Amino acid sequence: MPRSLSGRSFLKLLDFSTEEIQYLLELSKDFKRLKRAGTPHKYLTGKNIVLLFEKTSTRTRCSFEVAGNDLGMGVTYLDPGSSQMGKKESLEDTAKVLGRMYDGIEYRGFDQQVVEDLARHAGVPVWNGLTTQFHPTQMLADVLTIEENFGRYKGLKMVFMGDARNNVANSLMVVSAKLGINFVACGPKENMPEAELVATCREIAKENGSTITLTDDVKEGTKGAHVIYTDIWVSMGESPELWAERIKNLSPYQVNDAVMENAAPDAIFMHCLPSFHDLETTVGREIYEKFGLKEMEVTDKVFRSRRSKVFDEAENRMHTIKAVMYATLK
Ligand code: CP
Ligand code: NVA
Repeated sequence: MPRSLSGRSFLKLLDFSTEEIQYLLELSKDFKRLKRAGTPHKYLTGKNIVLLFEKTSTRTRCSFEVAGNDLGMGVTYLDPGSSQMGKKESLEDTAKVLGRMYDGIEYRGFDQQVVEDLARHAGVPVWNGLTTQFHPTQMLADVLTIEENFGRYKGLKMVFMGDARNNVANSLMVVSAKLGINFVACGPKENMPEAELVATCREIAKENGSTITLTDDVKEGTKGAHVIYTDIWVSMGESPELWAERIKNLSPYQVNDAVMENAAPDAIFMHCLPSFHDLETTVGREIYEKFGLKEMEVTDKVFRSRRSKVFDEAENRMHTIKAVMYATLK
């Protein structure tokens, strides 16, 4: 059992030990059982949290809201246009004000430094709901989903396909190193994670008996993999001008039938969502008109196949975020 996480912020998984991450996963399972059984768990009645979003969201916002309500807390949502932060009030002043009113603060935005600074000034736990570099709450949901499917995660092979230097890919590499999962970043050289982060993760992975591999070879990279994971090719906050270059560079890394067939017989497909797998989105249709692509990082067939666990993953966001809030606020 790790020491208590009470009062801690949840900014990136590099700040947490293997045992602490495992503890959060166990707690998530408890909360999922309580929710499924319909057992009330308003353990944090009387507390209040604020959700500060500088980028859009469906899953993360709803997870924090539902989890906050289930725990009996008051929840305030501040959307990208409606707080003074950054425009009329400094980050430091905003953090100090919110810290006087709320017991915890969720932040989704741009540079990791912003969420680190918020935590430094707020005096209450701050939770990272996605920055340019990391998406740590997503990781707990992903590992929980993997465990639900395989009964374990240690020693499995997980491959991230495509933009292997984005927030989700970076975080998957970190959580894999911490939990002894063999991680493969499969993409073109220009989309590989930063060398320093790779070196850090390799050291951690070594302690936990796993490996971190970077490759541009799809066949070799995905061979026998248990988890094939991908994400959109241009992330929030990046210029739409990047689409042409990313489509050219990342199309060979699309998750399709050939990739899934090259993986293990019981391999699963994962995606943090949202995903461009059909023409049912405005952006998807724009890309189709401009570049002729009907599906991008994953084919519609794989996305809708029985191997796809994307909606289990989405549900698990809520149970795991609840665990993070409970552990840090109790
Ligand atoms: N996966 C994820 O973070 O989704 P949202 O952008 O909808 O929150
Ligand atoms: N890499 C994506 C993740 C969305 C949950 C983005 O940052 O837009």
